[in-house]
Amino acid sequence: MKCHIIFTLFFLFCLGLAVQTLAAQSLIKEKKYVGAKACMACHEKEYSNYMNFAKKAKSFESIKKMEAKLTPEEYRGCFECHTTGYGKPGGFESEEKTPDLKDAGCEVCHGPGSLHIDGGDPDKIIRDVTMENCNTCHNKDRIEAFDFKPLLFGGAH
Ligand code: HEC
Ligand code: HEC
Ligand code: HEC
Ligand code: HEC
Repeated sequence: MKCHIIFTLFFLFCLGLAVQTLAAQSLIKEKKYVGAKACMACHEKEYSNYMNFAKKAKSFESIKKMEAKLTPEEYRGCFECHTTGYGKPGGFESEEKTPDLKDAGCEVCHGPGSLHIDGGDPDKIIRDVTMENCNTCHNKDRIEAFDFKPLLFGGAH
């Protein structure tokens, strides 16, 4: 009998926790990736510089050209650096499902922009882009192989 009460209390406790977690999740709006096009209207200069001069704006083309020579698994391995937010919440999934995220866009440096594009609050986007951020894709092997160390503004706008 006593055991039964303890069990019931424990069950209610767990139920309470679950409800709390669900409520918290719906309150926290998760930042999602939106793609470079969503930045165009408010940052025309950065957008057009990026489209015209950054190789990142064509980074999907680079891997697409080689798709036929790669296994599907090898091809997916390219997404991590040649697309926007692959493997992260709201990031690139496939050319068909997420066409706006298929190149390495603004958000690979500035972070997911869904909360910022809604009104342009500068606190909701990353401005302080550091070299560590570049290193996730421009890693040591690649830099040595190409004898190329990107400057902070290179490849941007
Ligand atoms: C609705 C208009 C709007 C859109 C859309 C928008 N921004 Fe902004 N953004 C602003 C405004 C306004 C500011 C603050 C004033 C300024 O610095 O120009 C700003 C500032 C910034 C800053 C500097 C933040 C700082 O601390 O000074 C960055 C970086 C930025 N935006 C990136 C982006 C990116 C990347 C996108 C697309 C994902 C984007 N913005 C889309 C309006 C917008
Ligand atoms: C998500 C991965 C990723 C991140 C993060 C990243 N890059 Fe790149 N970058 C690329 C890819 C991929 C290319 C090559 C695109 C192509 O040619 O297909 C590239 C190309 C470049 C180039 C070649 C020249 C050009 O005009 O595009 C420079 C310079 C560069 N990046 C600088 C930077 C810097 C500086 C940072 C950090 C502030 C950075 N990148 C962050 C993926 C990344
Ligand atoms: C760890 C990040 C990373 C991965 C994974 C990656 N790339 Fe890249 N790729 C880069 C960066 C950074 C550059 C540009 C700078 C450089 O050449 O080092 C680049 C450049 C290129 C270029 C040269 C484009 C040009 O304009 O000359 C091609 C082609 C390319 N990658 C194809 C691929 C393919 C295909 C895959 C998958 C098999 C792949 N990459 C995987 C980061 C990556
Ligand atoms: C390769 C990385 C990279 C990419 C891609 C990139 N930016 Fe930036 N962005 C930077 C850096 C670095 C700064 C300078 C931050 C600082 O002032 O310390 C910056 C600054 C900014 C600013 C603040 C104003 C200024 O010029 O200092 C805005 C707005 C901005 N970026 C928008 C964009 C938009 C829109 C895109 C896509 C079209 C984009 N960025 C793509 C690296 C990048």
